[in-house]
Amino acid sequence: MKHIALLAAALLPLAGPALSQTAPVQTASWGPGADDAAFSRMLAASFKDKGIARIDRLTQDETQAFCSDPEAAASPAAAARRERIEAANMATVKWPSDGQWLGDWKQGEAIAQSGRGNTWTDKPDGANGGNCYNCHQISPAEISYGTIGPSLSQYGTLRGRDEETLKAAWAKIYNAKASNACSNMPRAGHMGILGETQIKHLMALLFDPKSPVNASPANTQPGPAK
Ligand code: HEC
Repeated sequence: MKHIALLAAALLPLAGPALSQTAPVQTASWGPGADDAAFSRMLAASFKDKGIARIDRLTQDETQAFCSDPEAAASPAAAARRERIEAANMATVKWPSDGQWLGDWKQGEAIAQSGRGNTWTDKPDGANGGNCYNCHQISPAEISYGTIGPSLSQYGTLRGRDEETLKAAWAKIYNAKASNACSNMPRAGHMGILGETQIKHLMALLFDPKSPVNASPANTQPGPAK
């Protein structure tokens, strides 16, 4: 919320004589020195519950609060806090209950390419998409894709399929902040967006040698068929 204070600071000189340098110093209700509690109240008053989209989505957990606060991120204690936050997020990861990492890549592809779900028109028991396509290239055949995250093309081929690699990918999908406190990737398992079976399908998409992710780029070049 501090960036709002900075924006306000930039606007102040335009406000005219009432804010000249000789004006008495007051606690601002907005701008520099404004209290975040007032801003939070204003934010909460701007939204209401509708369907499954509840106002409690505005309540930040410790991870979100830390990552939204530039002063905390710049403080000398930041590195230690990031480590603590990552450990706390890692502790939330639920591993596959039957020890099987991989499901069906075809269903994984459908989940990865869907951003559907969690809006006020969705039903509480409806299955959500993973929204992966919005941030990642998924297969080498794609010519248009999100670039907020790294390409996942060739993931299993390049990374291999040993236990440690599978575990790291599972943890990334379940709770992305377990390995990167302020990751921009949503915490799909931890936030209840995806369930265990859906994560297994996504794992198969990343690791199954037959999945389009691991298709040979040479055979999937865009352009006219040769
Ligand atoms: C809002 C953007 C966003 C979405 C949606 C997203 N990711 Fe990510 N993802 C990222 C970013 C950014 C990174 C790199 C930073 C990090 O590791 O936290 C990343 C990293 C990863 C990695 C680790 C890559 C590596 O180098 O090993 C995997 C695997 C991954 N994402 C899979 C997925 C899957 C599967 C989905 C869908 C369920 C998904 N992501 C959804 C942004 C996103």
